[in-house]
Amino acid sequence: MARLRALLVGCGSMGNNWAGILGPRPDIDIVGLVDVIPTASAALADRNGMDVPRFRSLDDALRSLDIDVVLDTSIPETRRRIAGDAMEAGCHVLSEKPLGTSVGEARELLAISARTGKTHAVMQNRRYLAGTQGMRQLVADGVIGEVGMVCADFFLGAHFGGFRDKMANVLLLDMAIHTFDQARFMTGSDAVTAWCDEFNLPGSWYQGNASALAVFEMTGGSRYCYRGSWSAEGAATPWEAEWRISGSLGTAIWDGRSAPYAEVVAGTDGFVRPTKRVETTVDWEGPSGHAGCLDEMVTALVNGHRPMTHSGDNAKSLGMVLAAIESAGTGERVAVRL
Ligand SMILES: NC(=O)c1ccc[n+]([C@@H]2O[C@H](COP(=O)([O-])OP(=O)(O)OC[C@H]3O[C@@H](n4cnc5c(N)ncnc54)[C@H](O)[C@@H]3O)[C@@H](O)[C@H]2O)c1
Repeated sequence: MARLRALLVGCGSMGNNWAGILGPRPDIDIVGLVDVIPTASAALADRNGMDVPRFRSLDDALRSLDIDVVLDTSIPETRRRIAGDAMEAGCHVLSEKPLGTSVGEARELLAISARTGKTHAVMQNRRYLAGTQGMRQLVADGVIGEVGMVCADFFLGAHFGGFRDKMANVLLLDMAIHTFDQARFMTGSDAVTAWCDEFNLPGSWYQGNASALAVFEMTGGSRYCYRGSWSAEGAATPWEAEWRISGSLGTAIWDGRSAPYAEVVAGTDGFVRPTKRVETTVDWEGPSGHAGCLDEMVTALVNGHRPMTHSGDNAKSLGMVLAAIESAGTGERVAVRL
């Protein structure tokens, strides 16, 4: 089997994460590194024992190397150019989230992928968790009946320091896409409209808004309610969020840590009807998180399939983020446009 020749662009925290996961794989070789900061690519090469050429720009690297796939772990602001240039140059692209920073950028990248026939897929690591998969299974198996409301709570006092402290819409842009994408994945539905209020808690150390309340109307008529903050001190939820899905027959619960379960109606009498507990039986045992998503994306490339997180699907999660930001700005309920 020919090994995929990969170029890793962006040698920061996620670049190192990807390099560490992909290093041992038999089906892909990272044959070059790109970072605008040469010490970043040098440090990644050292850390991972890689003796490969290093470049300061994608263009230089693509002129020198024969590349099958560009792995874009640079920053969101450069994604449109890197992913677009890479596909135009005949490379597949696997990128970190987000797919782009605007509706226009996302549409351009979808169009380039369609025109060039190159695969373009995005990291959504929280799909590849037994808990997320378990919730999806409970819904898909009809255990809780028809879904009416999905609630996710995400509360952390996250002291990153650095660029996030100054970023506009920091929670919605940098984090909420994970939780929004999980809701789509768990329920098999997409958002149609968004209403969102974005603000800061007293004492927040973020310049931009780090708290948000959002309600989405989903296909099929259910509602998805998100409550989140990155400046909530104490009683943190997991990064995976805490979940409740209410259906016509019962409720699915995931605390983001232990196995999800459902409580479903088990009788026809009583003011509050009796219920029985249903445990999850997850038939998914793949690698978790980043390793799981990378495994699926690379395997799909090798086999010529479309990865689950291809950009056409992922745009629908980005669309939720962008619609929430638009709604927070206008105060109006808005249509999700991707
Ligand atoms: N999936 C997740 O859970 C997760 C977690 C953290 C970050 N991310 C995403 O990963 C991406 C990278 O985040 P990070 O935390 O690794 O950031 P980082 O700042 O640690 O690394 C980014 C690197 O990209 C380099 N870079 C910037 N512009 C470049 C360009 N034009 N060409 C080449 N290199 C360039 C920077 O010099 C830096 O070394 C972001 O899109 C972020 O949203 C995802």
